[in-house]
Amino acid sequence: MKERSYSLIDTHTHLFDKVFIDDLPQVIERAKAIGVSHVFMPNIDSTTIKAMLSVCDMYKGYCSPMIGLHPTSVNENYESELSLVAQYLASANSFVAIGEIGIDLYWDKTYQKEQQIAFVRQVELALKYNLPIVIHCRKAFNLVYDTLKLYKSTTLSGIFHSFTGEREDIDKMLEFGNFFLGINGIVTFKKSSLPEVLPSIPIERIVLETDSPYLSPVPNRGKRNETANLKYVQAKVADIYHLSLEQVAEITTKNALSLFGGRRRTL
Ligand code: NI
Repeated sequence: MKERSYSLIDTHTHLFDKVFIDDLPQVIERAKAIGVSHVFMPNIDSTTIKAMLSVCDMYKGYCSPMIGLHPTSVNENYESELSLVAQYLASANSFVAIGEIGIDLYWDKTYQKEQQIAFVRQVELALKYNLPIVIHCRKAFNLVYDTLKLYKSTTLSGIFHSFTGEREDIDKMLEFGNFFLGINGIVTFKKSSLPEVLPSIPIERIVLETDSPYLSPVPNRGKRNETANLKYVQAKVADIYHLSLEQVAEITTKNALSLFGGRRRTL
């Protein structure tokens, strides 16, 4: 393996997804080969926890789990899903964040109210356990913002995962000094506004992610995404900020560790 002078962190990757069942060891090897030193894995719901924890167990010190209920998994059973999240947090665990949580009104608005309740409840859990949150937000920024505003005077920290470049939201996002913007393969897409928008955001406020197996960057767009594709996100970000690959790795890794660092037990 080629020696590298830097390390990258994939702050958002679902390597426990069943599409990785056949070749996970190779996926991890390829991630290591491009310099990824650590990955953080957001949970989806009760159906994914076991698979996630077993991958984290297999790759201790490399893969770290989060716990949380994804907004698109919020339905009439959300109370029992939330109590499971609370149970896992109360047990001995190595969760590094509450995620992914938030509001998604793009796919379905049926459970909007329940999504809002679940979001608030998980923010409260984050404060109770002193963990950062990883926010998934689609077509619901104002609702998320209104909730976060209530916690402005607290220590709440986290990531606005999968920032897509909406100019009108940037100032509001940056108001939360303990939050970072997660940049993924979208930055490489032809029609993305991110290349124009990112220079107005200090690189000290961004972290890198893949959201594997989704959002594969160019030149692998449309294919299964994996953590090794983080190099394309890194390269594009370097290009946009006129920085070297090393500088982008150094700064974004520092950002990610400052957020997850205090809570890590296995790093
Ligand atoms: Ni995700």
